[in-house]
Amino acid sequence: MSIEQTILITGGAQRVGLHCAQRFAEAGYRVIITCRAPRAEWEHTPLQGIEVMLADFSTQAGIESFIERLDRRQARLRALIHNASVWLDDSTGADAFQQMFMVHLQAPYLINLASERWFDQEGPADIIHMTDFIARQGSPRHIAYSATKAALENLTLSFASRFAPSVKVNSIAPALIMFNEGDSPEYRKKALSKSALGIVPGPDVVFQAVNYLMNNPYVTGTTLDLNGGRHLKR
Ligand SMILES: NC(=O)c1ccc[n+]([C@@H]2O[C@H](COP(=O)([O-])OP(=O)(O)OC[C@H]3O[C@@H](n4cnc5c(N)ncnc54)[C@H](OP(=O)(O)O)[C@@H]3O)[C@@H](O)[C@H]2O)c1
Repeated sequence: MSIEQTILITGGAQRVGLHCAQRFAEAGYRVIITCRAPRAEWEHTPLQGIEVMLADFSTQAGIESFIERLDRRQARLRALIHNASVWLDDSTGADAFQQMFMVHLQAPYLINLASERWFDQEGPADIIHMTDFIARQGSPRHIAYSATKAALENLTLSFASRFAPSVKVNSIAPALIMFNEGDSPEYRKKALSKSALGIVPGPDVVFQAVNYLMNNPYVTGTTLDLNGGRHLKR
């Protein structure tokens, strides 16, 4: 593997994105993550082998500024993982849809259009969209979230077609991967009961799914379900 090969993970300062960033860094890749602000804990415990780029995708200017800065770095990407996400329910107000539209859709769309110049045309190269099980299911309290993740899943088809054969483009559609700190015991119990396998797998299953997509030369334009059999429960 070339030392120049870079994995770019948006929203990679915590949880699933950070876990994948750390695993890729351990494997010898150069890793860039984005986040909106540096974490206080990095002053005492700096990230090992991971570069941080500040980026806020809630505005067009923020997205364009990120693209310009990445251009200036002349990064050579092995994979671009659109992981940044906003989880708001529909009681949050009119701004919620706009926020999720920008982060789940506008940013991946503009970054993907720019990304052709960051990949080696000889490959291998991958773009991976982190969507969600409920993108295809819908959700009565997360209508905007589901719709914007569904649109992100749809980007997979168009970009896979546009970038073939040099860049593969796929989605991963997780159901429950890990809980948020504030999740109540009742919520946890209910969430666990929704999947056939009934476990909280943790972020390494996402890393495994990303690796599968990166290492398989014959998969593009698809969505990989990562849901513990959630679709089997009635
Ligand atoms: N965790 C699960 O169980 C689960 C289930 C289904 C799907 N997923 C999907 O899997 C992916 C990873 O999940 P996760 O739970 O680890 O994600 P997360 O912690 O909810 O969010 C990831 C990152 O998104 C970034 N972000 C939010 N607003 C942003 C903005 N305006 N501009 C730029 N970045 C922004 C945040 O970065 P900063 O705050 O550092 O800026 C945050 O660290 C997500 O796409 C999620 O939708 C996760």
